[in-house]
Amino acid sequence: MQTNRFLPPVIALWLAAGNGPAAGTIRSGEPWFDTSGQRIHAHGGGLLRHAGVFYWHGEDRTRGGAAAVNCYASTNLVDWRFAGVALSRESLPRADGQRTFVERPKVIHNARTGKFVMWMHLEQPGYHYARAGVALADQPAGPFTFLHALRPITNDFNFPADAPNRQKELGGTFRDMNLFLDDDGRAYVFYASENNWTMYVVRLNEAFTGPETPTLEGRTWARILVRDMREAPAPFKHQGRYHLITSGCTGWQPNPARWHVADAPLGPWRTGGDPCVGPEAGLTFRAQSTFVFPLPGKPGEFLFLGDRWNPQDLPDSRYVWLPLRFDTNGAPRLEWVAEWRP
Ligand code: GAL
Repeated sequence: MQTNRFLPPVIALWLAAGNGPAAGTIRSGEPWFDTSGQRIHAHGGGLLRHAGVFYWHGEDRTRGGAAAVNCYASTNLVDWRFAGVALSRESLPRADGQRTFVERPKVIHNARTGKFVMWMHLEQPGYHYARAGVALADQPAGPFTFLHALRPITNDFNFPADAPNRQKELGGTFRDMNLFLDDDGRAYVFYASENNWTMYVVRLNEAFTGPETPTLEGRTWARILVRDMREAPAPFKHQGRYHLITSGCTGWQPNPARWHVADAPLGPWRTGGDPCVGPEAGLTFRAQSTFVFPLPGKPGEFLFLGDRWNPQDLPDSRYVWLPLRFDTNGAPRLEWVAEWRP
């Protein structure tokens, strides 16, 4: 952000506050710095709007980073101020004597309880722990207090009790995830389950801290994109329909995105095509979906958040944030824009 020395001071200050054309731009794939000049670490992240402020929660991938989840705040979606460690590494549980870590944290506000509720993929090296973590806070930036780790649906596929590793892997595993808060106040968690073979959608209880119980397949939760091996779910709503963008399962390597659509969160879901168009569209512009955010005051316009992972140097992973719009057939389209402001 730069002030212009030829402008009257009041205007220059106004511009510097991020209100005018002097504010920064989104440049996907470039290193992105916060307002204090530090690299932004909020990977696999999500956006939340509360009281007119945007909050960006995501993974801290600095080497030896102190945070499990960082939070940044902004009023224009471009200039981000570091708002603190939302969830510290120390607050995470241990399991089998080993530490856990966080991927893809997402936060929603529960109007009933007044709490901010964070869900995350809680993991251990080897990716077999595969559980959801839930944490609560009174403020959007936190600090969040870890509540519990769980698998919302335990589905053992009749593996015998003496097959612990098979069950550990296949019993309702919870990996890439997202939250979706519908306009009727009900919330859902979308996650890659069954060892990533099948996506689950599970309606949350009133406090948003676990599944609605009793869990009834087809009524409170559903298996969707069955045996399709999709992950990185990014759900959103447009004109009464539910949309979902997913990636394939190729680890840190990019692959083609896919669009899915339904009339209700629990489905049935229909798979459409690849929403990306233009150069590198077949690799989701070398990125992987993490979130789709409706731009306030701009019906039909969304902000697509993706991660361009760098497996050789994960702390140097970049962000790919692009405008998402609907074409005349009602399908979402994502096009590469090198530099823009939402
Ligand atoms: C990806 C996933 C990332 C991370 C990575 C680890 O498939 O989307 O969030 O888990 O695998 O290899």
